[in-house]
Amino acid sequence: MTNQFSFTVNGLQHTLEAKPNETLSDLLRYRLRLTGTKIGCDEAECGACTVLVDGEPVVSCMYPAEKAEGKAVLTIEGLAGEFTAKHARSAKEKEKNLSELSGSDATLTPNPSPSGRGGLHPLQQAFVEHGAVQCGFCIPGQIMTAYALLERNPNPTSDEIRFALKDTLCRCAGYPTIENAILAAAESLRTGEPVRKPNVPDSIHVHKSVGHTHLRPDGIEKVNGKAIYTDDLVFDNMLFAKVKRAMIPHGFLTKLDISKAKALKGVVAVLTAEDIPAERNHGLIIYDWPVMVGVGERVRYVGDAIALVAAETLEIANQASALIEAEFDPQTVITNPVMAREEGVPQIHEKGNLLKHIKVRKGDMEKGFAEADVILEHTFHTPTYDHAFIEPECSIAVPVKPDRSSGDLSGFRLEIYCGSQIPYQDRTQVARVMGWDESRVRVVGQLMGGGFGGKEDVMGQIHVAMLADVTKRPVKLLFDRHESLLVHPKRHATQIRIKIGAKKDGRIVASESELYGDTGAYASLGEKVMTRATTHSAGPYDVPNVRADCYAMYTNNPPAGAFRGFGVTQSAFAVESMMDMLAEKLNIEPVELRRINALHVGSITNTGQELRESVGLMECIDKVSGAMCQVSGLSERDVFKPRVVSDHGEERLTAKHAKSAKKKELNLSDLGGLSGSKDFHLVRAWGFAAAYKNTGLGGGAPDISNAEVELYDNGMFEVRSSSAEMGQGLVTVMRLTVAEEMSVPPEQVKVLVMDTDLTPNGGPTTASRQTFVTGNASRYAAKTLRDAITATLAEKYDVKPEQIRFENGIVHANGHSMTYAEVAKEMKALGQHPRALYEYEAPKTQPLGTGGDMHFAFSFGVQAAEVEVNKLTGEVRVLRVISANDVGMAVNPLGLQGQVEGGVMMGLGNALTEEFIMDNGYVVTDRLARYRIPGIMLTPEITSIIVEHPVAAGPYGAKGVGEICSIPTTPAITNAIYNAVGVRVDRLPVDQESIAREIWEREKLQG
Ligand code: FES
Ligand code: FES
Repeated sequence: MTNQFSFTVNGLQHTLEAKPNETLSDLLRYRLRLTGTKIGCDEAECGACTVLVDGEPVVSCMYPAEKAEGKAVLTIEGLAGEFTAKHARSAKEKEKNLSELSGSDATLTPNPSPSGRGGLHPLQQAFVEHGAVQCGFCIPGQIMTAYALLERNPNPTSDEIRFALKDTLCRCAGYPTIENAILAAAESLRTGEPVRKPNVPDSIHVHKSVGHTHLRPDGIEKVNGKAIYTDDLVFDNMLFAKVKRAMIPHGFLTKLDISKAKALKGVVAVLTAEDIPAERNHGLIIYDWPVMVGVGERVRYVGDAIALVAAETLEIANQASALIEAEFDPQTVITNPVMAREEGVPQIHEKGNLLKHIKVRKGDMEKGFAEADVILEHTFHTPTYDHAFIEPECSIAVPVKPDRSSGDLSGFRLEIYCGSQIPYQDRTQVARVMGWDESRVRVVGQLMGGGFGGKEDVMGQIHVAMLADVTKRPVKLLFDRHESLLVHPKRHATQIRIKIGAKKDGRIVASESELYGDTGAYASLGEKVMTRATTHSAGPYDVPNVRADCYAMYTNNPPAGAFRGFGVTQSAFAVESMMDMLAEKLNIEPVELRRINALHVGSITNTGQELRESVGLMECIDKVSGAMCQVSGLSERDVFKPRVVSDHGEERLTAKHAKSAKKKELNLSDLGGLSGSKDFHLVRAWGFAAAYKNTGLGGGAPDISNAEVELYDNGMFEVRSSSAEMGQGLVTVMRLTVAEEMSVPPEQVKVLVMDTDLTPNGGPTTASRQTFVTGNASRYAAKTLRDAITATLAEKYDVKPEQIRFENGIVHANGHSMTYAEVAKEMKALGQHPRALYEYEAPKTQPLGTGGDMHFAFSFGVQAAEVEVNKLTGEVRVLRVISANDVGMAVNPLGLQGQVEGGVMMGLGNALTEEFIMDNGYVVTDRLARYRIPGIMLTPEITSIIVEHPVAAGPYGAKGVGEICSIPTTPAITNAIYNAVGVRVDRLPVDQESIAREIWEREKLQG
């Protein structure tokens, strides 16, 4: 007897066979193919899978499918339809009411139908219009949760919105724009008026298209559930893969028995290291990461692969993996980089535990410290962090005949579908391991649910390629959150000692630093990341004498690699903390100390590079300081002093601080003390920090991107590059640059990215480089095409090229006006294909240690954070962040705002909530619930100030923004904590209990 159950989804009746343990999310995604509902964690933590069941929001990954019996399920795909139905119902009712009221002077507000809104519900429309959509992966969950809220509360306050969305995480974290979008949608629903637009100022260097706010070309599909990410793809006859991992941090694999797994019904292939066809290791720079560890070989971290399974279903693949038996000879675990450098410890790699000793040398240290009136020295620690992108990694390999015909697969190619920050590099790495020519591999990058540097290394791509090669069937490998946390590279944990010497007047004369970076089991981008940490370790300051030594060390922890900020996040925390400590010692205001030392045009950086242009640091300092003073109503002198807050919200300067700015004089009795302190245990203060960050690869690496622009017969343009879109908005930048060059509206430009067959190589999406390099490649490709059109028409109409004009989508030539569709036909008739490929190479740079330009551009950022510290509990709340970033030029101000908000929230998590915890090489943080990324409830008021000091070689003057907007947040917060309660945080994340303890102990001492 069958066990059937019935329910409706988006108004359609379904009767289905019940499956044991099936969740509603799996049913929706894999049986009904409603893939708009996303799976970010499968553990009720992220909210991406939120749908409505009988009007109530539920996390469908935890909701048993059978429980939907007799209920109505609404998913993101059905939202606009629901709105249409409701609209029709309400129109009918209003009509009825109107006829009843006939004769009265009642007026009705016309409520625009979805067709009048581009087929979107006002919430969907508002998310697009307000730039609340970045990678898009969390958006269905955000919108469905917001919809449920507006259904029961059509006029919510900001607090009510935050409370409703408190469990729906966004790692791109444009929470303020999400909130604004919901407010705008609510207003539109109430009034029937169109969704109000956000108020985002244009760039001061505005052009026709570039510099204005534009909507993402992929925005609509990301709000209506049609956006396709890798796990949404299904191929005929597809197998499911599982990787058997070592699960010990260090040892030798002594025995591996796959016989039971192979014998399991439904298992199609089980592969071990013996089956690796060609190269055994992969890596981004150094090939030191084994595709699989073989018997007799060394396991270096818990995530090392030892066998691969492909089976008819995921359940069978999981069962087979559990049947694989492995034995190990465990070795001493190297748990941190300092231990890794000790004598006599095991050497993890043949060449030893040292990945790289990185040195920066400038001036004469002895002389510098001899000249100093004040010398300070302190050591800081930062932990390992995870990217926690909401979309876990997924790869699918599909064998296809070169001509894509069916039947015999001889001579097949492999198509690899995945989210990748470097599609061409993935292709190279797969081909190396397979022993194939690269032309046999096509990487088809899919929409990515966030990356932040964590999708640069290959994860499943090689494994699915091997399995698809053997089985001749498509193979999918989807990481669950546990595997994602265990396996992919993290942010480097560091220990950073800084010694700084300064004159009484505040001029820094010497900076010495020693850094240890934990690069984990394999190199990944560890050398490059720790190089940036080292070269930036004296901060954005003009320091004549600098010495920095960094030891990037292998350990038995998960590998560490690229992560937004690329090492500078860690050293900025250390150096900006030191700046405030120095300011206090010298009795100079923190802002003033930074002004005295700020890099400016003409400065020489730590690596010997003269800054000849585009240094907006001073303007960032002044603007943030001005905004901070304006918001607080305090002077630059008073703004860093602590203010107590009563239960009634009153603030006041303490008596002592009215007389003196010295934080060391901070006395708890001034702040109400602990005993009877109920009224005055909340203390507020501002903190300040500055940073800089290179744009581009730098260090002598050729920095190249290719883009191609084509004009189609219908007059549409397409711009193509393999560069990755992971939510940061590159597709908008590419579209705008081409629209600008061709004088057409942006909507006339399509964008294609991330396909190694169809798009030219744009290089890696890393180091805040894509706006600069692919922005330029797109721009010059368009310009090349424009020149070709000009030459063709000039010849045809016998006029000088200068007489050909491109205006508002029309080309004018000697009295003839042509649309681009006509131009395309004209060119083709003359035997020319209207298409241009451009290889852009950024200005040359020099390797570290050789002097000269190590980077072709730097972005600068300054932030002020206001915190409120609860002295009784140590709890820290960030109330406000003011962020100014010199981005050269704001290509798309709306996209930039999202980047800034997301960067601030990532920095806030870095400071207060996040830590990837390991215990003797074993991963403790193995579920999302154990890694607290900040949600909307922790979102402060964020003010973004754009500073534009154009860089000559940048596209319209633009330089990178993706990283700089995240870097100063953490030290601004920790400096604010010190200013509030006098506790210097030198270890991240902030241990809030230890703040309370330190205050309590200090008060005890003070009696
Ligand atoms: S996938 Fe359901 S809460 Fe994360
Ligand atoms: S847009 Fe929310 S996770 Fe990317």
